[in-house]
Amino acid sequence: MMASICISWINILVVNLNNELQMMGVNYGQVADNLPSNDAAVNLIKSLGAGWVKIYNSDAGTLTALAKTGLEVVIGMSNDEIPSLAASSAAADEWIVANVVAYVPATNITVILVGNELFADPTNSNIWPQLVPAIQNLQASLTSHGLSSIKLSTACEFNILTSSFPPSAGVFNSQIAVPVLKPLLEFLDKTSSYLYINIYPYFAWADDPSSIPLNYAVFASLAATLTEGQYSYTSLLEAQIDAVYYAMEALGYKNVRIALSESGWPTAGGTGANIRNAEAYNNNLVTYILSGKGTPKRPRVFIPTYIFALFNEDLKPGPATEQHWGLLYPNGSAVYPISLAGGSSPGDPSFPLPSPDGTGSNSDLPPGSPDACGDRESVLPLSATFLGMLFDLRI
Ligand SMILES: *[C@@H]1O[C@H](CO)[C@@H](O)[C@H](O)[C@H]1NC(C)=O
Ligand SMILES: *[C@@H]1O[C@H](CO)[C@@H](O)[C@H](O)[C@H]1NC(C)=O
Repeated sequence: MMASICISWINILVVNLNNELQMMGVNYGQVADNLPSNDAAVNLIKSLGAGWVKIYNSDAGTLTALAKTGLEVVIGMSNDEIPSLAASSAAADEWIVANVVAYVPATNITVILVGNELFADPTNSNIWPQLVPAIQNLQASLTSHGLSSIKLSTACEFNILTSSFPPSAGVFNSQIAVPVLKPLLEFLDKTSSYLYINIYPYFAWADDPSSIPLNYAVFASLAATLTEGQYSYTSLLEAQIDAVYYAMEALGYKNVRIALSESGWPTAGGTGANIRNAEAYNNNLVTYILSGKGTPKRPRVFIPTYIFALFNEDLKPGPATEQHWGLLYPNGSAVYPISLAGGSSPGDPSFPLPSPDGTGSNSDLPPGSPDACGDRESVLPLSATFLGMLFDLRI
C-alpha cells in the first residue's frame, strides 16, 4: 500500500515530460501601508523562484516594474468594472488599450481575470449575468489588437460549489450554474482558457479540525485518507479540485482546465494558523503542483497555481487570519523557508507532521508505520532556521 503510493509518484515524475511550462505563481497583493517598492518586490518574487505573478488590478507602477523581468503577469480588475465593459465594446477596447496595449510586450501580460470572487457577495448578483458579455467584449478587443494569445477568465471562490464532498457530488450553485457558469465554461472551452478558482484546504480543515486530519490538509498524509470508487485521495486539495471537475462535467464540460488563482495557509490569527503548518502546506503544494501529478480524476494534467500571498498585508479587512498569508514580511524577510522553484521543499509529499498546537490529529498515520518512501529525516530541510521554528515559534 505505502510502497505503491511511492511507486506511482515516481512514475508520474517520469511520464510527465511534456512541453508545457510548469512553474509556480504568486499573488502580489498590496493591501498594506508598509510594503517595499514595486522594484524591490519584483526582485523578491524572482528570488523566490516564481515564474508567474498575479496582481489584482492593472496598476501602472506595478506593471512597469514587471517589464522585462521574464515574469508572466496575470492582471485583474474589480467586480464593479464589469458592467461598463459588458455594456459597451468601445469601453472594453478603451480598457484593453489603457491596461494591456500600453504595457505589452515589455510586460508579459498573459491572462486577464475579469472580476474577483464575483459570486461571493449576493449584492453583486446584478453583475453576474454581465460577466460573460464583458469577457466577450474584451476578447474582441484583444483580437483586434493582435493579442488573442492573452487568455481571459475570472477568479471564482470555491463556494461556487454548494457541494464538494465526496468529490463526485461536486455541483455548482444552481443560481449561477446554467445562467452564468455554463456560458463562461463554453467560452473557456472554446478559447482553451482555464477556470480560475481560489481553493483553501485551510478553511475546510479549520471549520472541522476534529474530523479532517491535519496531515490530509497539508499534503503530509502517508496513506489515502479518502477513497471514492477507483480514486484515492491523499490530500484534501486534490479532492476539492476533483469536486470542481465533477461540477464542470455535470454542466457538460469535460475538458476545461483548472488553475488555482489562490491557495495558501495563514501563519497567525486562527485555528492551526501557524508558521509550521503554513511552511508544510506551501512547500508541499509547490512539490505537488510542480510534479505535474494532477488529480485522481485528471492525472498528469498540470494545474497552474498562484500562492496567496507574497507579503503579509496589514490593511486587509476581515477575519484575523487575513493579514497573515504572506510568504514574506513587509521587510522582505521570509516568514519561513520556501522556494517556488521547488527543490528546497521537503521533497517528499508524504513527510508526516507531529500534531500542531493541540488541534488536528495524526490519525491517518498508524503508530510505528514504516516509512516506505525512505528515511524521512533525510528529505526534511533540517536547517537551523527550520529547527528554530520547530522549537521556538510554533508551540
Ligand atoms: C511571454 O509569455 C509567453 C507564454 O509563456 C511566452 O511564450 C513568451 O515567450 C513570453 N514573452 C516574453 C517577451 O518573454
Ligand atoms: C523583518 O520583520 C520580521 C517581522 O516583523 C522580523 O521578525 C524580522 O526580524 C525582520 N527582519 C529584518 C532583517 O529586519
